[in-house]
Amino acid sequence: MKNNPGDVGNWLYSETVRDHFFAPRNLLLDEATYEADGIGIVGSPACGDMMAVWIRVDPKAERITECKWRTFGCASAIASTSMMSVMVTEEGGMLLTRAKKLTPEAIIERLDGLPDRKYHCSVLGHLAIREAIKDYEQNHGG
Ligand code: FES
Repeated sequence: MKNNPGDVGNWLYSETVRDHFFAPRNLLLDEATYEADGIGIVGSPACGDMMAVWIRVDPKAERITECKWRTFGCASAIASTSMMSVMVTEEGGMLLTRAKKLTPEAIIERLDGLPDRKYHCSVLGHLAIREAIKDYEQNHGG
């Protein structure tokens, strides 16, 4: 079933959202042993939830090779960040320049929609990955 992201009254979650919520991809449970090239942590002004994203980068190709994350956010934040982590690492990894321009709308489209009031949850992942890329670039003289 396809949700219309513009439908304010719709609270139904798509099959894809449910799939990523119940089986999140690239979740990081133990950051103490994970060596990241960049880390981004953001909080949501709308709900106070937190999101952390860790990335590994191929410096020659300037592509993201791994994207791990963890959140204290809701089901929508979990599903949208899980999808975001898939999008930036599929097909050999997304170029950093492209990943910086990734939009919540693109993530929501891949999720087959999110309830309109959950838009702010989908923003967390893409803001955190921007911070992680910024962190990577600062650490590597970018
Ligand atoms: S309500 Fe806080 S991330 Fe969704």
